[in-house]
Amino acid sequence: MILDLINKKRLGQELTYQELDSFFNGYLNGEVADYQMSAMLMAICINGMTDDEIFALTKIFIESGDVLDFSHIEGVKVDKHSTGGIGDKTTLIIVPIVAACGGIVIKMSGRGLGYTGGTIDKLESIPGFRTNLSEKEIEKQVKSIGLVVTGQTGDLAPMDKVIYALRDVTATVSSIPLIASSIMSKKIAGGADKILIDIKVGNGALLSNKADAKKLSDLMIKIGDYYHKEVRTVISDMNTPLGYAIGNSLEVLEAIDVLKGYEKNSFLVELCKELAADMISMSFNISNEEALKKVNNVLKDGSAYQKFEEMVSFQKGDLSKLCVSEKTFELKSPKDGIIQKIDALQLGKLSLQLGAGKEKMSDKIDHSVGILLNKQKGEKVKKGEVLATIYYQKKLVDINIDNIYKID
Ligand code: URA
Repeated sequence: MILDLINKKRLGQELTYQELDSFFNGYLNGEVADYQMSAMLMAICINGMTDDEIFALTKIFIESGDVLDFSHIEGVKVDKHSTGGIGDKTTLIIVPIVAACGGIVIKMSGRGLGYTGGTIDKLESIPGFRTNLSEKEIEKQVKSIGLVVTGQTGDLAPMDKVIYALRDVTATVSSIPLIASSIMSKKIAGGADKILIDIKVGNGALLSNKADAKKLSDLMIKIGDYYHKEVRTVISDMNTPLGYAIGNSLEVLEAIDVLKGYEKNSFLVELCKELAADMISMSFNISNEEALKKVNNVLKDGSAYQKFEEMVSFQKGDLSKLCVSEKTFELKSPKDGIIQKIDALQLGKLSLQLGAGKEKMSDKIDHSVGILLNKQKGEKVKKGEVLATIYYQKKLVDINIDNIYKID
């Protein structure tokens, strides 16, 4: 039976809900071995899945764990997810903006694996900040201030966790049907009414071309329709790091700058405004133009930053103790020219070597290290001018500027 199912998928045939259910649950209870699941995942990766198979797999992942219900909290609960990238601190900026506009956001974020930290690691660089709130605490906070960003409560889609770990070591992470069911199962189990997904494309992201991002977008919207949840997607660039800061404390500081209305980085600010406007438009059924006006207002009048401070204070963080390493090193330009490229993937690898991310879940993150860019792509630079400052703690790692920058 196990072999028949692997064979069926290898031949590109459609598996029924019952077949997928028995195979995937069989893996959880030990009847299907790692090597058999690996073969199935590779067959899926190569042959794809039909929409019915994707809906079935998403349902199987959702039903493997808890499904949270926040329907007793009044109002539309809107969630956002990013497929991840280098310097992606958008959650820290968008969630307070949406709450300042009157939206309700219950955001369960994760930790990073590889490159920089995840949102939870970034928030934990604020000493004392609590990321393990109970459902009761989430409810109390949301009713009081309209926003919460916390680690996952309950056991959401535990089957996805084990399958993801196997995908990670069998070169099957980039399968679009598997990414769609993995992300959507966790979002739906998390209890949001409406969901915004920021799909990153580029060398620092999971997907490297726009056509794949569009396919993923269409699939996630279809899964949302199936569950009667409005899903919107934005496809955004991840060839260049997002913003100036890479690394946990540095990214929190940059998020604060943006919330205080500092417009230095137009791409980061524009993306955050676009994403926040989508969430507000979904929350209140208004046009994106109207939503964008609200976003600009709360950035201008200080109420978005005030929401961020309220969240930090509710979750017991102390912003005055945020710590950035005092050991720094400046990367200087080897020549005059225009910056043609700042490689997101190479900077991600560098930040990992500095200790800002983890290679294994058991590694410990150093919140104080990272990279602060001094110039963006397209800017002029003179020989000897500072391109970036490296914040390090242990030993400074070898850095090859030519791998990171293209200056002509
Ligand atoms: N993020 C997830 O949660 N799952 C994937 O498959 C890819 C990115």
